[in-house]
Amino acid sequence: MVLNNTYIPIESLTVNGSVPQSSNKLYIETYGCQMNFADTEIVNGIMAKNGFDTACKLEDSAVILLNTCSIRENAELKIYQRLSELKAYKKKNPGLIIGIIGCMAERLKRDMLNKTNAVDLILGPDEYRKLPSLIDNLVDTGEKGIAIRLSRVETYDDIMPVRKEGISAWLSVMRGCDKFCTFCVVPYTRGRERSRTLEGVVAEVRQLWTDGFKEVTLLGQNVNSYRSGDDDFSDLLNECTKAVPEMRIKFTTSHPQDLSIKLIETIANHDNLSNYIHLPIQSGSNRILNLMGRSYTVEHYMSIIDNIKKLIPDVTISTDIIAGFCTETDDDHMLTLDIMKKVQYDGAYMFKYSPREKTKAWNMKDDVDEEIKAKRLMEIIELQNNISLGKNNAMIGNVYEIIIEGRSKKSEEMLTGRTDGNKSVIIPKNGYNRGEKVKVRILKANSATLFGEAVGN
Ligand code: 5AD
Ligand code: SF4
Repeated sequence: MVLNNTYIPIESLTVNGSVPQSSNKLYIETYGCQMNFADTEIVNGIMAKNGFDTACKLEDSAVILLNTCSIRENAELKIYQRLSELKAYKKKNPGLIIGIIGCMAERLKRDMLNKTNAVDLILGPDEYRKLPSLIDNLVDTGEKGIAIRLSRVETYDDIMPVRKEGISAWLSVMRGCDKFCTFCVVPYTRGRERSRTLEGVVAEVRQLWTDGFKEVTLLGQNVNSYRSGDDDFSDLLNECTKAVPEMRIKFTTSHPQDLSIKLIETIANHDNLSNYIHLPIQSGSNRILNLMGRSYTVEHYMSIIDNIKKLIPDVTISTDIIAGFCTETDDDHMLTLDIMKKVQYDGAYMFKYSPREKTKAWNMKDDVDEEIKAKRLMEIIELQNNISLGKNNAMIGNVYEIIIEGRSKKSEEMLTGRTDGNKSVIIPKNGYNRGEKVKVRILKANSATLFGEAVGN
């Protein structure tokens, strides 16, 4: 999922030669998944503790970091494009420090320094504590900094992230992934699974409520592998619901292999746990799932879906799908369309397969033609749009509680909020404010958004 809301076109920057080398102003531009957005807040927490001003605009900053994503080739191409813009900007502002942090730093290591001389710092996801000292050293000696070791223990449990004020917060409860799906670079860029302490997470959730947040999303590449002593992810959710009974709590992402009945029951038993589950299927063909190293069958996946629907009747479900994985045939593709029709997902993140170096699938043949991949992806997207539209239309006339997130992008007179099932709803302003819980009746819908009217708090 791309949440790149920090992007500022470099052409719009007017500053010339005004950035002092010793300045403590920092700006991080974030790409990729929610984990990266949560990591940016952790880096800001570390930097704020070390005297950096983390609330700066790009054009005022002496240190600019790109928090990067490697999941598909396109994600990396975007970063190279941005780097070439920043390189031109740095020519006019020679004191500027540019750093690459996150997955691309970890994947490409020193090569990233060789790709362009504009880059001064390279830091992998487990090395963020070193950032202040590497910047000091760079300013003192001119030496470029590189820190890319992956850790088996680093969870940043003691770091209080610096968040923008808002009503919805991200909070990572675990880092890394041990699943090694054959297409995925994450285990190589984010290392082994490790969890934060239950006490640490609960304390932070409490703090978020005190700070005015109304919703928190607990994050991990595979939250269902969360462990803190004898406690598992369901125990963590239970403790969080007790600590902040009025806060809406969501989580992502789940792996079908580890999604237990206990977790489904926990969601069903708590009003403040969002009835929304993101459960990536990736493919509807058992042969392809096996090649992907996904460790479940379509039948097992469907049995989880059936349990979820039985125990949480008003649940919404989303998924991830990859089109055109190695050796995928038309028949495999049809099986993917079939499972989408069976599950009736509320939403999906859909991608063309992109081979990544180091992964097991890198050594398989990427033998599905680009046009066929694109055609299959289009069919998947079209089908999903139809299913989403049908599901949204079925909500018309019903009343749902939403939390208001703010002004709608399209109109000053409208507000946008989300249901417990993570659906966006637009309503007329009528004096309601950000953070408020409002009951709304749905009046119309398209495949992405619902439109409604408030019927009271
Ligand atoms: N190519 C395409 N999609 C990928 N994903 C992960 N790796 C790749 C890849 N190499 C998708 C999966 C995963 C989501 C986060 O990104 O669907 O669930
Ligand atoms: Fe990647 Fe698979 Fe881990 Fe998800 S579960 S991060 S797809 S290796």
